[in-house]
Amino acid sequence: MNRKWIGFAVVATLVAASGLASGLSRAQDQEKHKETETPLGKIMEKVQKHNIAITKATRNAASFKKNQKEVEKSAAELAKLAKDGKPLKEAYLKNAKEETDPKKRQEKWDEIMDAFAKTSKDLAVAAAKDGATQKQAKDLFQTVKKTCSDCHTVFRVESEF
Ligand code: HEC
Repeated sequence: MNRKWIGFAVVATLVAASGLASGLSRAQDQEKHKETETPLGKIMEKVQKHNIAITKATRNAASFKKNQKEVEKSAAELAKLAKDGKPLKEAYLKNAKEETDPKKRQEKWDEIMDAFAKTSKDLAVAAAKDGATQKQAKDLFQTVKKTCSDCHTVFRVESEF
């Protein structure tokens, strides 16, 4: 090939590659968009809001002192959202690749959702007490967050990858 043609080939490749890249990111955006449109995705958006609120409020002793009421309220909301989300499992059961028995899949989902509800409730109850400390709240919040990842690793497909 002479120079001119090499230059053309390079440009054509770049154009094709950038087209592919923008096509990919568009597909990802749509995928993300779809997630927030599912009934469970909507619940999870609220879950995420309370999750952030509690994270901030339990960051240090001063923040906890100021926002203890907020921790109690948000944790109680999480417990409620867990109950709302529990029946919405149908679409996600098939994501549990390690477990092939449909009944066991359901049990696993229910078990994790119940744990999510219970740990959130425990945090709400603890934060409602006058003498509650930031460390107690933070430790209990860790047990809540463990249920998020327990469920996501099994039942939530990461479409962004
Ligand atoms: C028992 C299962 C389960 C638990 C517990 C759970 N999630 Fe989820 N979460 C899911 C599933 C399934 C999806 C995917 C929803 C979809 O794609 O329709 C999801 C999606 C999400 C999303 C993305 C929603 C969006 O708008 O795109 C966020 C954020 C999220 N979860 C945060 C959390 C946090 C924080 C916790 C814990 C405090 C938590 N989840 C607990 C199952 C769970």
